[in-house]
Amino acid sequence: MQIKATTTSLLDWTGDLLAVGIFEGETELAGDLAKLDDKLAGIVKELIAEEEFEGKAGSTITSRVGNKNPVRKIALVGLGKLEDLKLDSWRSAAAAIARLAAKEKSLGISLPVGSEAADKIAQAMAEAIVLALHQDNRFKSEPEDKQTKLETVDLIGLNGQDGAVAKGETIASGVILARELVNAPANAIDPVAMAETAQKLAEECGLAIEILERDACEQFEQGMGAYLGVAQASDLPPKFIHLTYKPDGTPKKKLAIVGKSVTFDSGGLNLKVSGSGIETMKMDMGGGAATLGAAKAIAQLKPDVEVHFICAAAENMISGHAMHPGDILKASNGKTIEVNNTDAEGRLTLADALVFAEKLEVDAIVDLATLTGACIVALGNNIAGLWSTDDSLAEQIKTAAESAGEKFWQLPMEEKYFEGLKSQIADMKNTGPRAGGSITAALFLKQFIKDTPWAHLDIAGPVWSDKPDGIDNKGATGFPVRTLVNWVTS
Ligand code: BES
Ligand code: MG
Ligand code: ZN
Repeated sequence: MQIKATTTSLLDWTGDLLAVGIFEGETELAGDLAKLDDKLAGIVKELIAEEEFEGKAGSTITSRVGNKNPVRKIALVGLGKLEDLKLDSWRSAAAAIARLAAKEKSLGISLPVGSEAADKIAQAMAEAIVLALHQDNRFKSEPEDKQTKLETVDLIGLNGQDGAVAKGETIASGVILARELVNAPANAIDPVAMAETAQKLAEECGLAIEILERDACEQFEQGMGAYLGVAQASDLPPKFIHLTYKPDGTPKKKLAIVGKSVTFDSGGLNLKVSGSGIETMKMDMGGGAATLGAAKAIAQLKPDVEVHFICAAAENMISGHAMHPGDILKASNGKTIEVNNTDAEGRLTLADALVFAEKLEVDAIVDLATLTGACIVALGNNIAGLWSTDDSLAEQIKTAAESAGEKFWQLPMEEKYFEGLKSQIADMKNTGPRAGGSITAALFLKQFIKDTPWAHLDIAGPVWSDKPDGIDNKGATGFPVRTLVNWVTS
Protein backbone atom coordinates (compact mmCIF):
# COMPACT_ATOMS: atom_id res chain seq x y z
CA MET A 1 0.00 0.00 0.00
CA GLN A 2 1.31 3.40 -0.97
CA ILE A 3 0.14 6.60 0.72
CA LYS A 4 0.73 9.78 -1.28
CA ALA A 5 0.11 13.47 -0.72
CA THR A 6 -1.29 13.85 -4.20
CA THR A 7 -1.26 16.90 -6.45
CA THR A 8 -4.58 15.79 -7.96
CA SER A 9 -7.51 17.96 -6.92
CA LEU A 10 -10.78 16.69 -5.48
CA LEU A 11 -12.57 17.30 -8.77
CA ASP A 12 -10.01 15.45 -10.88
CA TRP A 13 -9.48 12.41 -8.67
CA THR A 14 -10.50 9.07 -10.17
CA GLY A 15 -10.56 5.66 -8.50
CA ASP A 16 -12.59 3.21 -6.40
CA LEU A 17 -13.53 5.12 -3.26
CA LEU A 18 -13.48 8.84 -2.70
CA ALA A 19 -13.98 9.83 0.94
CA VAL A 20 -14.80 13.41 1.88
CA GLY A 21 -14.90 14.88 5.36
CA ILE A 22 -17.77 17.05 6.56
CA PHE A 23 -17.94 19.12 9.76
CA GLU A 24 -20.91 18.69 12.04
CA GLY A 25 -23.59 21.25 11.16
CA GLU A 26 -21.88 22.20 7.87
CA THR A 27 -23.88 19.99 5.59
CA GLU A 28 -24.62 22.88 3.21
CA LEU A 29 -22.08 22.16 0.49
CA ALA A 30 -19.65 24.86 -0.60
CA GLY A 31 -16.50 25.27 -2.67
CA ASP A 32 -14.97 22.18 -4.25
CA LEU A 33 -17.43 19.91 -2.49
CA ALA A 34 -20.35 21.71 -4.12
CA LYS A 35 -18.60 21.39 -7.49
CA LEU A 36 -18.00 17.68 -6.88
CA ASP A 37 -21.68 17.28 -6.08
CA ASP A 38 -22.59 18.97 -9.38
CA LYS A 39 -20.18 16.71 -11.21
CA LEU A 40 -21.74 13.62 -9.59
CA ALA A 41 -25.27 14.77 -10.43
CA GLY A 42 -26.21 15.79 -6.88
CA ILE A 43 -25.46 12.48 -5.17
CA VAL A 44 -23.64 14.06 -2.21
CA LYS A 45 -26.59 16.33 -1.38
CA GLU A 46 -28.98 13.45 -1.84
CA LEU A 47 -27.01 11.20 0.51
CA ILE A 48 -26.84 13.87 3.20
CA ALA A 49 -30.60 14.39 3.01
CA GLU A 50 -31.65 10.74 2.71
CA GLU A 51 -29.39 9.46 5.46
CA GLU A 52 -29.90 12.55 7.65
CA PHE A 53 -26.12 12.83 7.79
CA GLU A 54 -25.08 15.42 10.38
CA GLY A 55 -21.29 15.15 10.24
CA LYS A 56 -20.99 13.78 13.78
CA ALA A 57 -17.45 12.64 14.64
CA GLY A 58 -16.92 9.04 13.53
CA SER A 59 -20.14 8.78 11.47
CA THR A 60 -19.81 7.49 7.91
CA ILE A 61 -22.01 6.71 4.90
CA THR A 62 -20.95 5.12 1.66
CA SER A 63 -22.76 4.83 -1.61
CA ARG A 64 -22.07 3.46 -5.03
CA VAL A 65 -21.82 6.16 -7.66
CA GLY A 66 -21.65 3.78 -10.61
CA ASN A 67 -19.12 2.28 -12.96
CA LYS A 68 -19.52 4.95 -15.61
CA ASN A 69 -18.30 7.64 -13.24
CA PRO A 70 -14.64 8.43 -12.63
CA VAL A 71 -15.32 7.55 -8.99
CA ARG A 72 -16.95 4.17 -8.24
CA LYS A 73 -18.00 4.82 -4.64
CA ILE A 74 -18.25 7.82 -2.40
CA ALA A 75 -18.02 8.01 1.39
CA LEU A 76 -18.99 10.86 3.66
CA VAL A 77 -17.17 11.03 6.96
CA GLY A 78 -18.15 13.21 9.91
CA LEU A 79 -15.40 15.20 11.60
CA GLY A 80 -17.50 16.60 14.44
CA LYS A 81 -17.92 20.26 15.36
CA LEU A 82 -15.38 22.68 13.96
CA GLU A 83 -14.70 24.11 17.44
CA ASP A 84 -13.98 20.63 18.90
CA LEU A 85 -11.49 19.76 16.19
CA LYS A 86 -8.15 18.30 17.35
CA LEU A 87 -5.42 16.51 15.48
CA ASP A 88 -7.08 13.32 16.63
CA SER A 89 -10.23 14.21 14.65
CA TRP A 90 -8.26 13.68 11.43
CA ARG A 91 -6.74 10.54 12.86
CA SER A 92 -10.12 9.02 13.77
CA ALA A 93 -11.67 10.03 10.46
CA ALA A 94 -8.77 8.56 8.46
CA ALA A 95 -8.97 5.32 10.48
CA ALA A 96 -12.72 5.03 9.85
CA ILE A 97 -12.20 5.64 6.14
CA ALA A 98 -9.34 3.11 5.91
CA ARG A 99 -11.58 0.44 7.44
CA LEU A 100 -14.36 1.26 4.94
CA ALA A 101 -11.91 1.06 2.07
CA ALA A 102 -10.09 -2.13 3.07
CA LYS A 103 -11.60 -4.06 0.18
CA GLU A 104 -11.02 -1.41 -2.48
CA LYS A 105 -7.88 -0.96 -4.54
CA SER A 106 -7.65 2.82 -4.64
CA LEU A 107 -8.77 5.38 -2.10
CA GLY A 108 -8.83 9.16 -2.22
CA ILE A 109 -9.32 11.10 1.01
CA SER A 110 -10.22 14.76 1.14
CA LEU A 111 -10.54 16.10 4.65
CA PRO A 112 -10.81 19.83 5.23
CA VAL A 113 -7.64 21.34 6.68
CA GLY A 114 -8.62 23.42 9.69
CA SER A 115 -6.65 24.95 12.52
CA GLU A 116 -3.81 22.41 12.55
CA ALA A 117 -0.72 22.57 10.33
CA ALA A 118 -0.87 20.56 7.10
CA ASP A 119 2.23 18.49 7.96
CA LYS A 120 0.76 17.42 11.30
CA ILE A 121 -2.48 16.43 9.59
CA ALA A 122 -0.71 14.45 6.86
CA GLN A 123 1.41 12.64 9.46
CA ALA A 124 -1.59 11.85 11.65
CA MET A 125 -3.59 10.55 8.70
CA ALA A 126 -0.75 8.32 7.52
CA GLU A 127 -0.36 6.87 11.04
CA ALA A 128 -4.08 6.24 11.26
CA ILE A 129 -4.38 4.54 7.87
CA VAL A 130 -1.47 2.16 8.47
CA LEU A 131 -2.49 1.34 12.04
CA ALA A 132 -6.21 0.90 11.42
CA LEU A 133 -5.44 -1.60 8.63
CA HIS A 134 -2.78 -3.51 10.58
CA GLN A 135 -3.77 -7.10 11.33
CA ASP A 136 -1.77 -9.61 13.28
CA ASN A 137 -2.36 -13.00 11.67
CA ARG A 138 1.02 -14.48 12.59
CA PHE A 139 -0.42 -17.15 14.84
CA LYS A 140 -3.30 -18.34 12.63
CA SER A 141 -2.76 -21.15 10.17
CA GLU A 142 -5.27 -19.44 7.91
CA PRO A 143 -6.00 -15.78 8.40
CA GLU A 144 -9.63 -15.19 9.33
CA ASP A 145 -9.52 -11.50 8.55
CA LYS A 146 -9.23 -10.55 4.94
CA GLN A 147 -5.97 -8.74 4.25
CA THR A 148 -6.46 -5.26 2.87
CA LYS A 149 -6.51 -4.96 -0.91
CA LEU A 150 -5.68 -1.27 -0.86
CA GLU A 151 -2.87 -0.40 -3.23
CA THR A 152 -2.94 3.38 -3.29
CA VAL A 153 -4.20 6.00 -0.87
CA ASP A 154 -4.17 9.60 -2.10
CA LEU A 155 -4.36 12.37 0.47
CA ILE A 156 -6.08 15.14 -1.46
CA GLY A 157 -5.32 18.77 -0.61
CA LEU A 158 -2.08 17.90 1.19
CA ASN A 159 0.18 18.44 -1.79
CA GLY A 160 3.84 18.71 -0.73
CA GLN A 161 3.43 16.73 2.48
CA ASP A 162 5.11 13.49 1.37
CA GLY A 163 7.80 13.94 4.05
CA ALA A 164 5.14 14.16 6.75
CA VAL A 165 3.43 11.06 5.33
CA ALA A 166 6.75 9.18 5.49
CA LYS A 167 7.21 10.31 9.09
CA GLY A 168 3.74 8.98 9.96
CA GLU A 169 4.56 5.66 8.30
CA THR A 170 7.85 5.40 10.21
CA ILE A 171 6.12 6.02 13.52
CA ALA A 172 3.43 3.50 12.60
CA SER A 173 6.12 0.88 11.94
CA GLY A 174 7.36 1.40 15.51
CA VAL A 175 3.81 1.07 16.85
CA ILE A 176 3.38 -2.16 14.86
CA LEU A 177 6.59 -3.60 16.31
CA ALA A 178 5.27 -2.85 19.81
CA ARG A 179 1.85 -4.38 18.98
CA GLU A 180 3.42 -7.54 17.60
CA LEU A 181 5.66 -7.98 20.63
CA VAL A 182 2.71 -7.59 23.01
CA ASN A 183 0.37 -9.82 20.98
CA ALA A 184 2.96 -12.60 20.88
CA PRO A 185 2.36 -15.09 23.69
CA ALA A 186 4.86 -15.74 26.45
CA ASN A 187 6.08 -18.92 24.73
CA ALA A 188 7.04 -16.85 21.69
CA ILE A 189 8.38 -13.69 23.30
CA ASP A 190 10.39 -14.60 26.39
CA PRO A 191 13.43 -12.70 27.71
CA VAL A 192 15.74 -14.45 25.24
CA ALA A 193 13.48 -13.68 22.27
CA MET A 194 13.15 -10.09 23.43
CA ALA A 195 16.94 -9.75 23.48
CA GLU A 196 17.11 -11.27 19.99
CA THR A 197 14.51 -8.78 18.76
CA ALA A 198 16.59 -5.92 20.18
CA GLN A 199 19.72 -7.35 18.57
CA LYS A 200 18.03 -7.51 15.18
CA LEU A 201 16.71 -3.99 15.59
CA ALA A 202 20.20 -2.75 16.44
CA GLU A 203 21.62 -4.32 13.29
CA GLU A 204 18.82 -3.07 11.03
CA CYS A 205 18.65 0.46 12.39
CA GLY A 206 22.26 1.13 13.35
CA LEU A 207 21.78 1.31 17.11
CA ALA A 208 24.47 0.36 19.62
CA ILE A 209 23.52 -2.59 21.80
CA GLU A 210 24.72 -4.10 25.03
CA ILE A 211 23.03 -7.05 26.70
CA LEU A 212 23.91 -7.65 30.32
CA GLU A 213 23.75 -11.34 31.19
CA ARG A 214 23.08 -12.51 34.76
CA ASP A 215 26.77 -12.21 35.80
CA ALA A 216 27.05 -8.65 34.54
CA CYS A 217 23.83 -7.75 36.36
CA GLU A 218 25.25 -9.21 39.59
CA GLN A 219 28.35 -7.07 39.13
CA PHE A 220 26.64 -3.79 38.28
CA GLU A 221 27.22 -1.44 41.24
CA GLN A 222 25.98 -3.29 44.34
CA GLY A 223 24.30 -6.01 42.27
CA MET A 224 20.87 -5.89 40.61
CA GLY A 225 19.33 -7.98 43.38
CA ALA A 226 15.79 -6.67 42.86
CA TYR A 227 15.66 -7.46 39.13
CA LEU A 228 17.44 -10.79 39.55
CA GLY A 229 15.11 -11.76 42.40
CA VAL A 230 12.17 -11.56 39.98
CA ALA A 231 14.05 -13.54 37.31
CA GLN A 232 15.29 -16.31 39.63
CA ALA A 233 12.40 -18.80 39.38
CA SER A 234 12.42 -18.92 35.58
CA ASP A 235 14.17 -21.61 33.56
CA LEU A 236 15.09 -18.82 31.16
CA PRO A 237 17.96 -16.41 31.78
CA PRO A 238 17.33 -12.71 32.45
CA LYS A 239 18.39 -10.36 29.66
CA PHE A 240 19.09 -6.74 30.54
CA ILE A 241 18.84 -4.91 27.22
CA HIS A 242 20.44 -1.52 26.58
CA LEU A 243 20.13 0.06 23.13
CA THR A 244 21.62 3.46 22.32
CA TYR A 245 20.79 5.90 19.57
CA LYS A 246 23.45 8.57 18.99
CA PRO A 247 22.99 11.43 16.52
CA ASP A 248 25.81 12.35 14.14
CA GLY A 249 26.70 15.67 15.74
CA THR A 250 26.85 16.63 19.40
CA PRO A 251 23.55 15.65 21.03
CA LYS A 252 21.40 18.53 22.30
CA LYS A 253 20.25 16.32 25.16
CA LYS A 254 20.59 12.82 26.55
CA LEU A 255 17.43 10.93 27.41
CA ALA A 256 16.58 7.47 28.75
CA ILE A 257 13.45 5.40 28.17
CA VAL A 258 12.97 2.43 30.49
CA GLY A 259 10.23 -0.13 29.77
CA LYS A 260 8.91 -2.84 32.11
CA SER A 261 9.69 -6.10 30.33
CA VAL A 262 8.13 -8.93 32.31
CA THR A 263 7.43 -11.36 29.48
CA PHE A 264 5.01 -13.28 31.68
CA ASP A 265 3.68 -12.36 35.11
CA SER A 266 2.34 -15.40 36.95
CA GLY A 267 2.47 -13.40 40.18
CA GLY A 268 5.21 -15.64 41.55
CA LEU A 269 4.39 -17.45 44.81
CA ASN A 270 1.70 -14.83 45.37
CA LEU A 271 0.28 -16.59 42.32
CA LYS A 272 -2.41 -14.78 40.37
CA VAL A 273 -5.70 -16.52 41.15
CA SER A 274 -8.16 -17.45 38.42
CA GLY A 275 -10.18 -14.42 37.42
CA SER A 276 -7.17 -12.15 37.93
CA GLY A 277 -6.41 -12.16 34.22
CA ILE A 278 -3.32 -14.38 34.52
CA GLU A 279 -3.93 -15.56 30.95
CA THR A 280 -3.47 -11.98 29.70
CA MET A 281 -0.11 -11.49 31.41
CA LYS A 282 1.87 -11.84 28.19
CA MET A 283 1.10 -8.12 27.94
CA ASP A 284 3.32 -7.39 30.95
CA MET A 285 6.22 -6.48 28.68
CA GLY A 286 4.11 -3.76 27.06
CA GLY A 287 6.45 -1.06 28.40
CA GLY A 288 9.49 -2.79 26.92
CA ALA A 289 7.65 -3.43 23.65
CA ALA A 290 6.84 0.28 23.31
CA THR A 291 10.45 1.10 24.21
CA LEU A 292 11.70 -1.05 21.32
CA GLY A 293 8.98 0.33 19.03
CA ALA A 294 10.06 3.88 19.87
CA ALA A 295 13.71 2.90 19.28
CA LYS A 296 12.80 1.63 15.83
CA ALA A 297 11.06 4.88 14.86
CA ILE A 298 13.62 7.19 16.50
CA ALA A 299 16.55 5.45 14.80
CA GLN A 300 14.94 6.26 11.45
CA LEU A 301 13.82 9.80 12.27
CA LYS A 302 17.31 10.71 13.51
CA PRO A 303 16.68 13.54 16.01
CA ASP A 304 19.58 15.56 17.51
CA VAL A 305 19.33 13.84 20.89
CA GLU A 306 21.02 10.80 22.36
CA VAL A 307 18.51 8.22 23.57
CA HIS A 308 19.07 5.16 25.73
CA PHE A 309 16.47 2.38 25.60
CA ILE A 310 16.46 -0.01 28.55
CA CYS A 311 14.49 -3.24 29.02
CA ALA A 312 15.23 -5.43 32.05
CA ALA A 313 13.58 -8.55 30.63
CA ALA A 314 12.54 -11.41 32.90
CA GLU A 315 9.71 -13.85 33.57
CA ASN A 316 7.94 -13.82 36.94
CA MET A 317 7.51 -17.55 37.57
CA ILE A 318 7.21 -20.12 40.34
CA SER A 319 9.62 -22.95 41.07
CA GLY A 320 11.79 -24.37 43.85
CA HIS A 321 14.09 -21.41 43.55
CA ALA A 322 11.42 -18.74 43.43
CA MET A 323 11.71 -15.82 45.82
CA HIS A 324 9.61 -16.37 48.91
CA PRO A 325 7.14 -13.77 50.05
CA GLY A 326 9.08 -11.98 52.78
CA ASP A 327 12.49 -12.32 51.14
CA ILE A 328 14.77 -9.32 51.35
CA LEU A 329 16.47 -8.18 48.15
CA LYS A 330 19.18 -5.57 47.69
CA ALA A 331 18.97 -3.29 44.66
CA SER A 332 22.01 -1.96 42.82
CA ASN A 333 21.90 1.37 44.71
CA GLY A 334 22.25 -0.55 47.98
CA LYS A 335 18.63 -0.14 49.12
CA THR A 336 17.00 -3.21 50.66
CA ILE A 337 13.46 -4.34 49.87
CA GLU A 338 11.22 -6.72 51.80
CA VAL A 339 9.17 -8.48 49.13
CA ASN A 340 5.82 -8.71 50.89
CA ASN A 341 4.15 -9.55 47.58
CA THR A 342 5.93 -11.34 44.72
CA ASP A 343 3.24 -10.11 42.32
CA ALA A 344 4.51 -6.53 42.66
CA GLU A 345 7.46 -7.62 40.52
CA GLY A 346 7.48 -4.87 37.90
CA ARG A 347 8.73 -2.24 40.34
CA LEU A 348 11.53 -4.61 41.41
CA THR A 349 12.77 -4.99 37.84
CA LEU A 350 12.41 -1.24 37.24
CA ALA A 351 14.31 -0.34 40.43
CA ASP A 352 17.58 -1.64 39.01
CA ALA A 353 16.81 -0.41 35.51
CA LEU A 354 16.28 3.14 36.86
CA VAL A 355 19.57 3.03 38.81
CA PHE A 356 21.28 1.91 35.59
CA ALA A 357 19.61 4.70 33.57
CA GLU A 358 20.66 7.39 36.03
CA LYS A 359 24.30 6.21 35.87
CA LEU A 360 24.24 7.14 32.16
CA GLU A 361 24.04 10.81 33.23
CA VAL A 362 21.04 11.60 31.10
CA ASP A 363 18.99 14.81 31.29
CA ALA A 364 15.68 13.00 31.84
CA ILE A 365 14.36 9.49 32.42
CA VAL A 366 10.90 8.23 31.45
CA ASP A 367 9.76 4.79 32.51
CA LEU A 368 6.67 3.06 31.17
CA ALA A 369 5.11 0.03 32.76
CA THR A 370 2.02 -2.12 32.96
CA LEU A 371 2.52 -1.62 36.66
CA THR A 372 -0.74 -1.74 38.58
CA GLY A 373 -4.31 -2.95 38.30
CA ALA A 374 -5.05 0.01 40.61
CA CYS A 375 -4.24 2.43 37.78
CA ILE A 376 -6.89 0.75 35.61
CA VAL A 377 -9.39 1.07 38.48
CA ALA A 378 -8.55 4.77 38.75
CA LEU A 379 -8.43 5.81 35.09
CA GLY A 380 -10.08 3.02 33.08
CA ASN A 381 -8.69 1.37 29.97
CA ASN A 382 -8.05 4.40 27.78
CA ILE A 383 -6.00 6.65 30.02
CA ALA A 384 -2.52 6.07 31.41
CA GLY A 385 -1.29 7.44 34.74
CA LEU A 386 1.55 9.97 34.79
CA TRP A 387 3.75 10.85 37.76
CA SER A 388 6.75 13.12 37.68
CA THR A 389 9.35 14.73 39.91
CA ASP A 390 9.70 17.55 37.40
CA ASP A 391 6.90 19.85 36.25
CA SER A 392 8.55 20.74 32.98
CA LEU A 393 9.08 17.07 32.06
CA ALA A 394 5.44 16.32 32.93
CA GLU A 395 4.35 19.16 30.63
CA GLN A 396 6.59 17.86 27.82
CA ILE A 397 4.96 14.44 28.08
CA LYS A 398 1.46 15.92 28.13
CA THR A 399 2.19 18.03 25.05
CA ALA A 400 3.70 15.07 23.20
CA ALA A 401 0.70 12.92 24.15
CA GLU A 402 -1.83 15.53 23.04
CA SER A 403 -0.61 15.60 19.45
CA ALA A 404 -0.08 11.82 19.49
CA GLY A 405 -3.73 11.32 20.44
CA GLU A 406 -2.74 9.25 23.49
CA LYS A 407 -4.28 10.03 26.87
CA PHE A 408 -2.50 10.55 30.18
CA TRP A 409 -3.64 11.95 33.48
CA GLN A 410 -1.19 13.23 36.06
CA LEU A 411 -1.55 11.81 39.56
CA PRO A 412 0.09 13.05 42.73
CA MET A 413 3.41 11.86 44.06
CA GLU A 414 1.99 11.98 47.60
CA GLU A 415 5.05 11.52 49.84
CA LYS A 416 2.92 10.83 52.90
CA TYR A 417 1.76 7.57 51.34
CA PHE A 418 5.32 6.25 51.48
CA GLU A 419 4.49 5.40 55.10
CA GLY A 420 2.55 2.48 53.66
CA LEU A 421 5.80 1.05 52.30
CA LYS A 422 7.73 1.26 55.61
CA SER A 423 9.25 -2.09 56.56
CA GLN A 424 10.22 -3.26 60.05
CA ILE A 425 13.21 -5.14 58.75
CA ALA A 426 14.35 -3.58 55.45
CA ASP A 427 14.51 -0.10 53.90
CA MET A 428 11.07 -0.58 52.38
CA LYS A 429 8.43 -3.15 51.42
CA ASN A 430 7.47 -3.55 47.78
CA THR A 431 3.73 -3.09 48.37
CA GLY A 432 1.57 -0.95 50.61
CA PRO A 433 -2.17 -0.91 51.32
CA ARG A 434 -4.72 -1.45 48.56
CA ALA A 435 -5.81 2.18 48.64
CA GLY A 436 -3.71 4.41 46.40
CA GLY A 437 -1.89 1.38 44.98
CA SER A 438 -0.65 3.07 41.85
CA ILE A 439 0.66 6.05 43.84
CA THR A 440 2.67 3.88 46.25
CA ALA A 441 4.06 2.05 43.21
CA ALA A 442 5.31 5.40 41.83
CA LEU A 443 6.75 6.32 45.26
CA PHE A 444 8.55 2.98 45.38
CA LEU A 445 10.20 3.67 42.00
CA LYS A 446 11.20 7.15 43.17
CA GLN A 447 13.54 5.55 45.75
CA PHE A 448 15.77 4.49 42.87
CA ILE A 449 16.19 7.93 41.31
CA LYS A 450 18.49 10.50 42.89
CA ASP A 451 18.07 13.83 41.14
CA THR A 452 17.52 13.30 37.40
CA PRO A 453 14.15 14.64 36.20
CA TRP A 454 11.98 11.56 35.95
CA ALA A 455 8.49 10.63 34.80
CA HIS A 456 6.66 7.36 35.36
CA LEU A 457 3.88 6.21 33.03
CA ASP A 458 1.53 3.46 34.24
CA ILE A 459 0.16 2.03 31.00
CA ALA A 460 -1.61 -1.07 32.39
CA GLY A 461 -4.96 0.02 30.86
CA PRO A 462 -4.16 1.37 27.39
CA VAL A 463 -1.68 -1.29 26.18
CA TRP A 464 -4.58 -3.54 25.29
CA SER A 465 -7.93 -2.96 23.62
CA ASP A 466 -10.89 -5.34 23.70
CA LYS A 467 -12.36 -3.92 20.51
CA PRO A 468 -11.36 -1.85 17.48
CA ASP A 469 -11.43 1.76 18.68
CA GLY A 470 -10.20 4.74 16.65
CA ILE A 471 -6.89 3.67 15.21
CA ASP A 472 -6.52 0.77 17.66
CA ASN A 473 -7.50 -2.72 16.66
CA LYS A 474 -8.59 -5.51 19.00
CA GLY A 475 -5.51 -6.64 20.94
CA ALA A 476 -2.26 -4.81 21.56
CA THR A 477 -2.39 -1.07 20.83
CA GLY A 478 1.29 -0.14 20.77
CA PHE A 479 0.60 2.59 23.36
CA PRO A 480 2.54 4.92 24.00
CA VAL A 481 5.07 4.69 21.14
CA ARG A 482 3.65 7.80 19.46
CA THR A 483 3.97 9.90 22.61
CA LEU A 484 7.54 8.75 23.20
CA VAL A 485 8.57 9.52 19.63
CA ASN A 486 6.95 12.98 19.78
CA TRP A 487 8.62 13.66 23.10
CA VAL A 488 12.08 12.76 21.81
CA THR A 489 11.77 14.43 18.42
CA SER A 490 10.28 17.77 19.50
N1 BES B 1 1.37 -6.78 35.84
C1 BES B 1 0.60 -6.46 36.96
C2 BES B 1 -0.30 -5.24 36.76
C3 BES B 1 -1.37 -5.39 35.73
C4 BES B 1 -2.65 -5.76 36.08
C5 BES B 1 -1.12 -5.10 34.41
C6 BES B 1 -3.64 -5.87 35.13
C7 BES B 1 -2.11 -5.20 33.44
C8 BES B 1 -3.37 -5.60 33.80
C9 BES B 1 1.51 -6.19 38.16
O1 BES B 1 2.70 -6.87 38.17
C10 BES B 1 0.77 -6.63 39.36
O2 BES B 1 0.55 -7.81 39.47
N2 BES B 1 0.41 -5.69 40.21
C11 BES B 1 -0.33 -5.97 41.38
C12 BES B 1 0.28 -5.15 42.49
C13 BES B 1 -0.23 -5.55 43.86
C14 BES B 1 0.30 -6.90 44.23
C15 BES B 1 0.22 -4.49 44.84
C16 BES B 1 -1.77 -5.56 41.12
O3 BES B 1 -1.99 -4.57 40.46
O4 BES B 1 -2.66 -6.27 41.59
MG1 MG C 1 2.56 -8.77 39.10
ZN1 ZN D 1 3.46 -7.42 36.36
